[in-house]
Amino acid sequence: MNSKEYMAEARGDAARQAAKSKPQVKAAAAAAKPFPEAKAPEYRLIGKPTSRIDGREIVTGRARYTQDVKLRGMLIGKILRSPRAAAEVVSIDLGPALAVPGVMAAIKLAEGKVRYAGQQVAAVAAVDERTAEKALGLIKVEYKPLPYVVDWEKARDASAPQVRDGRSNVEKINEYGRGDVEKGFAQADVVVEHTYRTGFEVHNPTETHGSVAAWEGDHLIVYDSTQNIHGVRDGLARALKVPAANVTVIKNYMGGGFGSKLGVNDYTIAAVNLARQAGRPVKMLLSRRDNAVCVGYRPSSSQTYKIGAKKDGTLTALQLTNMASGGIGSGDDVAEPAVDIYACSNCKVFEETVYTNTGASRAMRAPGHTQGAFGLESAMDELAAALDMDPLELRRKNYSTKNLGDTGLPYSSKGLDKCYELGAKAIGWERRNRKPGEGGGAGPLRRGIGVATSIWFGAGAPGTLADIVLYPDGSVEVICGTQDLGTGTRTHMAVVAAETLGLEPKDITVKLGNSDYPWAPASGGSQTTPSVAPAVRDAGLKAVERLKAVAAARLKVDAGDVVMAERKFSSKSDPAKSAPFADVCRDLRRETVFHGERGGMPMDQFAFNTFGAHFAEVEVNVETGRVRVLKYVAAQDSGQVVNRLTAESQVIGGLTQGLSAGLFEERVMDDATGNPVNPNLRDYKIATSLDIPEITPIFVDVFDPRINNLGVKGLGEPARVPASPAVANAVYNAIGVHVREIPMTPKRVLEALKRKESGS
Ligand code: MOS
Repeated sequence: MNSKEYMAEARGDAARQAAKSKPQVKAAAAAAKPFPEAKAPEYRLIGKPTSRIDGREIVTGRARYTQDVKLRGMLIGKILRSPRAAAEVVSIDLGPALAVPGVMAAIKLAEGKVRYAGQQVAAVAAVDERTAEKALGLIKVEYKPLPYVVDWEKARDASAPQVRDGRSNVEKINEYGRGDVEKGFAQADVVVEHTYRTGFEVHNPTETHGSVAAWEGDHLIVYDSTQNIHGVRDGLARALKVPAANVTVIKNYMGGGFGSKLGVNDYTIAAVNLARQAGRPVKMLLSRRDNAVCVGYRPSSSQTYKIGAKKDGTLTALQLTNMASGGIGSGDDVAEPAVDIYACSNCKVFEETVYTNTGASRAMRAPGHTQGAFGLESAMDELAAALDMDPLELRRKNYSTKNLGDTGLPYSSKGLDKCYELGAKAIGWERRNRKPGEGGGAGPLRRGIGVATSIWFGAGAPGTLADIVLYPDGSVEVICGTQDLGTGTRTHMAVVAAETLGLEPKDITVKLGNSDYPWAPASGGSQTTPSVAPAVRDAGLKAVERLKAVAAARLKVDAGDVVMAERKFSSKSDPAKSAPFADVCRDLRRETVFHGERGGMPMDQFAFNTFGAHFAEVEVNVETGRVRVLKYVAAQDSGQVVNRLTAESQVIGGLTQGLSAGLFEERVMDDATGNPVNPNLRDYKIATSLDIPEITPIFVDVFDPRINNLGVKGLGEPARVPASPAVANAVYNAIGVHVREIPMTPKRVLEALKRKESGS
């Protein structure tokens, strides 16, 4: 799945299009009724902290990841990858590889041109890894080298090598406008204009990519480290021209994906074809190096914001020009924060992507929004300084209460303002420097506090299915064809089922990670919990209704008289009459399945989004340029929290990835070879526990029952979006000059300080 398809799914474009075409959308947008405050029900388990039901399995190493899959007769697959960034593949000779004893299959994977270093050329399957490696080295490939370009700024040159045949290296990816920006700038008292850049950030999931393919007759079974078992099943069926009914995709445990594991991969198809040729299962695992070059990264951006405002902070015009790069794939459109967060009647966007001879980018945790939030939120802080205004006040004055770019519909919740309010209180906003850089401090250390805003989707996918099975012995199973990326989905399913059935999470057997189970969407777009939890809830409510009827017969009372308590059913009118849960299940006499579904939401009346405001406090050493984050507050509106513990994990993980990208992470390509310089975890820096500050996650108490039967929204991406700009704005507040490029390495911080000294 590329970024565009991903965003369409994350936004729920199909449903939005259907909603937009209805005439009542305009009426609802015009009426824009205030959000009716509702109070969340009191739950026994939902919203409270629950330890992971699979925690013990994971930490003791018993959990079986794709890497751990071992099948009888299984071979090891290896892929030969192009060392050249551009070449004509003249010939591939598999003969010497096939002659190696123990090599069971070999296939060609490249025809014609290769367009990036790391592209697949050929593959082998052998009895063990050493034999496969040896065979790989014997494959003879004749390349005719072609000119290439890996630097996006050079690729823009008219004289640069053409990356894609017959197409310019620069292509428009987005254009948007409302009102008249020229008029808006003319009305402004203050105009700021700056360019902000974000680098190439690699997903680097703990578990690298991999698949195991096995044919059982006509039926294909693929164990895949994927965020999308149903999508991979359908994609494999299409690619191999076999019925989807003959494909099963399994994924039990996973060490993250962050958007890089959303679709069918070329190496999976290679494994399937090798398995067919060899007549034996094939395991194909990618290396950490492969991970940096072949399976995506966050595209770069270079965003120029021009913002005009009245003296009182009212925005009059907002213009964004962006140049993105995603290798042979497209860069991200980063405009949505600029278009949607702040009410500004004159807005104009123009975005282009630049093609280079590097692997294609992939969606990465809030694609586009993450880069866009860095640019927009940095520019808002520079505008606040130009207006001599509190940057938080500037935001609270301008944030929009409706979706401006698309439907014009009001947002279904007012959570953003609460995030600003509670977050500011928790960080001690009044402690910030009144003017950027005014704080001073001991020796070379300067402290500052910054804020940034997040908007994302995450309403969940209507149509998600889950089954609850009650067994006559009282045991309970909940089944859903979703996948747990490591976020805690298993536990969320158990918590919702247990809450609904009056049981404890440990009483529930959870089954997920198999595409033969009822449909659930890709675990991307922060939609897993808001899709799956409501479906489980629905199945549970149906089960309870049936159990009450059965209990009524056993207790000889009316069904309406039966109440459910913990592990039992009793009569309201005569509490002495009661029956244990297990006895009532026994009366069902056989296992009984209850089908649940996540229903729809009124997308023709409201825009369902998630919000957040992050606050960071940093300390900058103005002699070394080193930035340390001291304290961090993340306030999120993601509706009803299902499990306080895993929700906090999501927030901590999301913002950690964000501050890591803000301070350390950047893939660097070598112009001379067309290969990456740092495709490993030694030279590519990722934040460690020593870089992580004191973190306070806050969940604002905004309950919206219209979104689904629990009022649950997503959290995985919202917590990533504002982290880099919150840190950047804190650095700005500390040193009085904005570091307009991430990662904010010591070198870039010192360069910014020099710019300040020279007054430019
Ligand atoms: Mo998505 S980029 O897989 O959360």
